[in-house]
Amino acid sequence: MSQQGQWQVAGSAPEVYERELVPAVFGPWAPIVVELAHPSPGERVVDVACGTGIVARIAAARVGPSGSVAAVDLNPGMLNVARSVATNGASASIQWHEASADKLPFPNSSFDIAYCQLGLQFFADRPAALREMHRVLVPEGRLALMVWRGIGESPGFQALAEILEKNIGCPCRKSDPVGNRLRIGRSCVGCAISAGWSSVWSLTCFGREQRWKPKS
Ligand SMILES: C[S@@+](CC[C@H](N)C(=O)[O-])C[C@H]1O[C@@H](n2cnc3c(N)ncnc32)[C@H](O)[C@@H]1O
Repeated sequence: MSQQGQWQVAGSAPEVYERELVPAVFGPWAPIVVELAHPSPGERVVDVACGTGIVARIAAARVGPSGSVAAVDLNPGMLNVARSVATNGASASIQWHEASADKLPFPNSSFDIAYCQLGLQFFADRPAALREMHRVLVPEGRLALMVWRGIGESPGFQALAEILEKNIGCPCRKSDPVGNRLRIGRSCVGCAISAGWSSVWSLTCFGREQRWKPKS
């Protein structure tokens, strides 16, 4: 049967991630996450669970050629795509590392800023990963990390769940995969405090509305 006119997805999963999901989902959040840590020229950055590197590239442009960026992911396919995407000429160079978030391949106090966008929910040992991010930062270092809230507070996932339920009968809202698997915002604030951060703030984004809350 001819494939002409049929819906076809070309490329590997990491290529599809970079081409489709980064522009639609992950890319729009990345500049917000990067700005949360107020990067300055010359600073040293680590991006944990970097995927195809959207946060690392934006941070590299913000810290400039006098800064440096290390980007870590467990998945070599994501890293291969990350390496193939060009950076802006006025950016820091980015070193890509295949490693797990709970065993970062860097000495203590190596970085000024750590980022983790939508990675924490996948880590088998989240407290260990947070302790590692704390370990590799200098004493006054900053961490900006992002996770989704529950499905009741995520209109995009709610719409997707309704479509899946209607068309393929998957009970997505009832089983609440986002709420149950990914709603870890409150617990990760607690974990961050236990991992050693003394000043923890949470920012809730609901559409364009943003609410800051000091935690300690
Ligand atoms: C949803 S993607 C987010 C990627 C990227 N931060 C972004 O915003 O596009 C989650 C990433 O976490 C990575 N990951 C999952 N477990 C990991 C671990 N233990 N250590 C490092 N990376 C991990 C996956 O390989 C994947 O690339």
